[in-house]
Amino acid sequence: MPEAPKVLIAEEAIRRRVGELGRRISEDYARAESVHLVGVLRGSFIFLADLARSLTIPGSVDFLAVASYESAVAPKGPVRLITDLRTDIAGRHVLVVEDIVDTGETLAFLMSLLALRGPASLKCCALLGKPASRKTDVRIDYLGFEIPDVWVVGYGLDDAERFRALPYIGVRSRQPAD
Ligand code: IMP
Ligand code: MG
Repeated sequence: MPEAPKVLIAEEAIRRRVGELGRRISEDYARAESVHLVGVLRGSFIFLADLARSLTIPGSVDFLAVASYESAVAPKGPVRLITDLRTDIAGRHVLVVEDIVDTGETLAFLMSLLALRGPASLKCCALLGKPASRKTDVRIDYLGFEIPDVWVVGYGLDDAERFRALPYIGVRSRQPAD
């Protein structure tokens, strides 16, 4: 059995911060009346579920999937869209929900792709950001936590599909035998 990841952000701290983000987003979109949440699969599924329930304004949900790197050690290729949205976003207030912004390439790719589809507004919300490894100047409208440049898992995030269901954000300490 691999060792349990060390806690970086505890469950309670995540809960509080997601609640704050939900309140801010609800205020900011109060005049828009509804927000269309676009989750980036797979890492954002738990964050999106909690964020959606912390909103006090009506929201709708859709998902898309992109291919990015799969683990802490795999080389990173170009970002590709794997699964597209099911619904048209023209005229809607779209909020992209991401688990983590590392280099920013995934988010930059998605924001420019979705902007071409004529949304009424387009913003993004990420639970985590690693400012030290940013390679694009993509803007994050709502950010949960800034973290150091370490590989994190849990609360939806994985290391080669492991640890997604951990209730906290942990740091993966790699053992040679893993
Ligand atoms: P970016 O394009 O470099 O910003 O990478 C974004 C994507 O890489 C995220 O949506 C995650 O799926 C994945 N990623 C980056 N850092 C981590 C991490 O520390 N743990 C798990 N996934 C990560
Ligand atoms: Mg992701």
